[in-house]
Amino acid sequence: MNPLDTTEFKKQGHMIIDFLADYYENISNYPVLSQVEPNYLKKLLPSFAPSNPEPIETILEDYQKHIIPGITHWQSPNYFAYFPSSGSTAGFLGEMLSTGLNVVGFNWISSPAATELENVVIDWLGEILNLPKSFLFKGGGGGVLLGTTCEGILGTLVVARDKILSKIGSENIGKLVVYGSDQTHCAVQKAAHIIGINPKNFRAIKTNKLNSFTLLPESLLSTIENDLKNGLVPCFLCVTVGTTSTTAIDPVRKLCNVAKDYGIWVHVDAAYAGSACICPEFRYLIDGVEDADSFSLNAHKWFLTNLDCCCLWLKDPNSLIKCLSTTNSDYLENSASDSKQVVDYKDWQVTLSRRFRALKVWFVLRSYGADNLRNFLRNHVEMAKTFEGLVKMDKRFEIVVPRKLALVCFRILPYGKKVANGKVPNGEAKLLNGKKLADGKVTNGEAKLISSEDVVANEINRKLLDSINGSGDVYMTHAMVEGVFVIRCAIGATLTEEMHVIKAWKVVQEHADVIIGLETVH
Ligand SMILES: Cc1ncc(COP(=O)(O)O)c(C=O)c1O
Repeated sequence: MNPLDTTEFKKQGHMIIDFLADYYENISNYPVLSQVEPNYLKKLLPSFAPSNPEPIETILEDYQKHIIPGITHWQSPNYFAYFPSSGSTAGFLGEMLSTGLNVVGFNWISSPAATELENVVIDWLGEILNLPKSFLFKGGGGGVLLGTTCEGILGTLVVARDKILSKIGSENIGKLVVYGSDQTHCAVQKAAHIIGINPKNFRAIKTNKLNSFTLLPESLLSTIENDLKNGLVPCFLCVTVGTTSTTAIDPVRKLCNVAKDYGIWVHVDAAYAGSACICPEFRYLIDGVEDADSFSLNAHKWFLTNLDCCCLWLKDPNSLIKCLSTTNSDYLENSASDSKQVVDYKDWQVTLSRRFRALKVWFVLRSYGADNLRNFLRNHVEMAKTFEGLVKMDKRFEIVVPRKLALVCFRILPYGKKVANGKVPNGEAKLLNGKKLADGKVTNGEAKLISSEDVVANEINRKLLDSINGSGDVYMTHAMVEGVFVIRCAIGATLTEEMHVIKAWKVVQEHADVIIGLETVH
């Protein structure tokens, strides 16, 4: 056996590229959301691994027959779920080169180019985003390419924790408080839990529709003051630019202003919306980031960089290195590291081994150029405007929160007797407890009163979304905000064009016609 036989490598490699090219050409023919039942695969595959080799042709046949049906096609032009995971030829090729080299660049010496290219591209990206110089290597800060935002938040939270504990003593860890809003990504709560923050000390500060679900500085201030009164110690604030449910934009500058008076570490999580900030017209979304301590975005969401690639910048990388460095491992010692002239990225992250992610970012930036990337993102925003306009034209629907960027949050409203269809519990309001709403954002067991119309609307919208997704024609997902079930149409798949957006809206209307039994109001 020669697992790296170059003749076979070429032959099989070409086969796979051909296979993927055909896949992209025919991707619209697949149901976007996989329609398989749970545990479908183990019924189809043998219970034991093969003892003898099998030809690539057989493996690929099974891939097509058994694996593809269980795939939800994130690269489909009809994919509008969650946030996009936009891939590209450049992202793919960069990834392929990285996989081909298969180096493990945990420190500089283990592959100098892996580290140095990462230093270069993270600064390039920072420049394009117009990040303050203080976040760039050339300005005394620096950045790192991680797998996901969850890892970035975990790392920065550790720094925030250790900074405070160095002052008040590690025995006081139970007093530390982490702040976010009820729209903050669950990554923050999880990271807080992992690093030993008392779960009761995670503050999901309430937001409301009136303020477009943004975290209000006044609410942050009063929460902090209350915690101080109770002898607790503020530690970390996550400001979100582009929340997962509705793309709410927390006011970065004002929140930083509040936090700085209390020595709180501020991380700006712009996992989705950050990419848009390369466009001057959207850069205002992160105004004030110069006052934050760290900032991250996911290039694998909306920046044509194939999964995975979270870009994290810090003003003071040394604070991170101090917390995460592995100094007592003899086998990692080398003169380059000793010289302090190089970056050892193992000290910037939780894991030791790391992938050569910079290659794909380099490929994306060079293959497309910043101007094309800006236009690519703008195009998605324009398509979202088109979709939003179509929703507004149909009187049965409402836009639930004003559109920001390329996410449209909408729902069908139960109106007229036909919709109510005897199901409305006679105008009586219904109390839903936090648990029941937990798939959305109402947490902490907090009870919420929603109107009977909303109860009915939720039911109908849930049914509508199930019906749409069951068709396989498009895939959208939902969010719960203030107890209201919202359908999210997130435009950003690389292959999506206006015709797909228009078709998506037609699909929504057709399913609405069936579900609410009304003629479409065009
Ligand atoms: C605002 C925000 N933060 C964090 C995350 C988590 O990102 P990751 O999966 O890269 O950890 C997401 C994912 O959608 C997100 O939207």
